[in-house]
Amino acid sequence: MSFVESMFSLEGKIAVVTGGGGMLPSYIAVAFAKAKAKVALWGRGTHHPMEEAAKTVRKQAGLSLDSADVIGITVDTGSTEACEQALEQTIQSLGVPDILLNGVGGNIGRSKFVELNEKLFDDVLKLNLMAGLVIPSKVFAKRWISEGIKGCMINMTSMTSYKPLSDTWAYDAAKAGVLNLTQGLAKEFAPYGIRVNAIAPGFFVGNQNRALLIDEKTGDLTARGRAIIARTPFGRFGEYEELWGTALYLASSKASGFVTGVSIPIDGGFLIDNI
Ligand SMILES: NC(=O)c1ccc[n+]([C@@H]2O[C@H](COP(=O)([O-])OP(=O)(O)OC[C@H]3O[C@@H](n4cnc5c(N)ncnc54)[C@H](O)[C@@H]3O)[C@@H](O)[C@H]2O)c1
Repeated sequence: MSFVESMFSLEGKIAVVTGGGGMLPSYIAVAFAKAKAKVALWGRGTHHPMEEAAKTVRKQAGLSLDSADVIGITVDTGSTEACEQALEQTIQSLGVPDILLNGVGGNIGRSKFVELNEKLFDDVLKLNLMAGLVIPSKVFAKRWISEGIKGCMINMTSMTSYKPLSDTWAYDAAKAGVLNLTQGLAKEFAPYGIRVNAIAPGFFVGNQNRALLIDEKTGDLTARGRAIIARTPFGRFGEYEELWGTALYLASSKASGFVTGVSIPIDGGFLIDNI
């Protein structure tokens, strides 16, 4: 194994990727599988049956389509009981996980503050904070602490963790909370050797935001798409593969063993834009 391979290889590691049927989490799962981790994709399976999601990751990682090293598990990560069952299922199929990528999350709806839908606000907080972080992290940390496993958690922060975006109030508050919890849990779990970090993607075009950024009929940028590009010093959206290096760096205890409580922006400079 070359020096670089030994630094970033995840051989012998087992990773759980929640929201594993989603855009960003499934791309990150591909990187973990390419780096030779065994991977369990956890997801609700509502829009993406988890076995299909597993097949897609196997294919993109260059594994055989029936490889047992990447599995899909249907689970609502907003339920402690369901996460405990999914963890047992993962352990039976792959072994005790060392890595938890909390990929569940996202925004629903936009509005002026005075027109805010309170039920939707609550749903977005629950999606990003509870299902997206608190519940799976609690289940994993309990197990890791009781078994003395020096696990690694990676959360999904966002540009909104640092500065509010317009009209996405609950998402902004939730992602600021994800950054806060990343730092707080990093301190809480440091005595057990458990690391907690985050990836903060800038703007990547996916199914859930394509219509917001690109006019379907003309293929031109929408006003919001143009505003984002104008504020991104690199002048473009991110490519999903550009998440891989940071994900592997944070997941590899050899590469980032003394790193905890950080959130790494992958944003083409969005956060350092000025006038
Ligand atoms: N797409 C971006 O540009 C971007 C930017 C910054 C941060 N993020 C964050 O990255 C993460 C992934 O985003 P994405 O754009 O890939 O979203 P996505 O919607 O494609 O993926 C999220 C997945 O989570 C699943 N899910 C939702 N609730 C669940 C639950 N309770 N239990 C199990 N699975 C559940 C969904 O079915 C979906 O497959 C989110 O936290 C998002 O906020 C995305």
